[in-house]
Amino acid sequence: MKTIRVNTARPYDIQIGQGLLEQAGERCRAALPRAGKIAVVTDSTVAPLYLETVADSLRAAGFQVFCQTVPAGEGSKNTASLSALWESFMEFGLTRTDAVAALGGGMVGDLAGFAAATILRGIDYVQIPTTLLAQVDSSVGGKVAIDLQAGKNLAGAFWQPSLVLMDTDTLRTLPDRDFSSGMAEVIKYGCIADRAFFDFLTAHASREAILAEIESVLYTCCDIKRKVVEEDERDTGLRMILNFGHTVGHAYERMGNYETWTHGEAVAAGMCAAVQIGFGLGVSGGDDSGIQELMDLLEAFHLPTQIPLDTSEAWNAVVEAVGLDKKGTGDELTMIFLKRMGEALPVKQKKDSVLENLEAIYGR
Ligand code: NAD
Ligand code: GLY
Repeated sequence: MKTIRVNTARPYDIQIGQGLLEQAGERCRAALPRAGKIAVVTDSTVAPLYLETVADSLRAAGFQVFCQTVPAGEGSKNTASLSALWESFMEFGLTRTDAVAALGGGMVGDLAGFAAATILRGIDYVQIPTTLLAQVDSSVGGKVAIDLQAGKNLAGAFWQPSLVLMDTDTLRTLPDRDFSSGMAEVIKYGCIADRAFFDFLTAHASREAILAEIESVLYTCCDIKRKVVEEDERDTGLRMILNFGHTVGHAYERMGNYETWTHGEAVAAGMCAAVQIGFGLGVSGGDDSGIQELMDLLEAFHLPTQIPLDTSEAWNAVVEAVGLDKKGTGDELTMIFLKRMGEALPVKQKKDSVLENLEAIYGR
């Protein structure tokens, strides 16, 4: 088992290992010494797989346990689910010393985390992430949120968990598409901060090979995120490097109505776009943009390297979502490029130059 201490304003441990769900009770007891009650929030796919194990373990450790299951899928990360959680927490009699546990992927983590951040002006919560994406990204760093009609993650908070408990066994039941989606974020860490890790992934370019080394893969990713979050907990500077591939990626996701492309698929293609745009702008050093090795690695995990924009509606939607249309404020935007593979570089660029390079990628 591996442990990472995250030294944010409210410090906490990330614990990574096999069979940790069975030990959830004792581990939560150590992290939440004051709590008598714990509300476990999960989704309809994860509940039949792992809820009983976690709830039994929590009860054995002396917690009074209440379970709330929301339908699986991004559609549950909304105000209706949030207010249903608030009401159910109050019916269960949660007090300010009690806690919430988020058992599931990033959707559950964001929703339950935001419910914990807001009920009774904020109570403790633990993250028990069960997708690769949630383990390497969303469960760490304290960003919690729900989606609004106006867009994704628009109502939220910075609210650090008291513990992040990652049981690597849970990844065995993850569908291939969700595993690949998480791999996009794993590959992102290699691109922005660790050339040797990128090379390691290239040498382990299959689900089986990654799962054989999963503890160290999760450790490397979470440790990179730890360093960034410790330096910039409230996302005012350095933390933006975690958004490599996300500026264009979010635009692809939105263009596909958050249904056509998973977050990881959109980020994969977004990272390729960012590297190509950066190279076109002369930001990347040397004469090798790293694009080919990035594309090869993404393809090995069945991730797209370019997302088609066949219609003018699709093109315009992406241009608008990236903020390159004339309606946006200002004529510059900050994008994350790679100075070289393994080193991210936030750069303010003229929107017109970014647009020209995006047009070049799409042969327009
Ligand atoms: P998700 O939570 O919707 O999970 C994907 C699917 O996998 C769901 O159907 C879920 O029920 C299922 N699932 C979860 N664990 C499983 C398991 N072990 N076995 C089988 N099926 C399982 O999506 P996600 O990809 O984990 O996360 C995406 C969400 O995370 C988005 O809402 C995104 O906005 C958010 N996010 C947040 C942050 C952050 O910093 N807070 C960062 C990145 C993404
Ligand atoms: N997922 C980006 C961040 O935590 O800042």
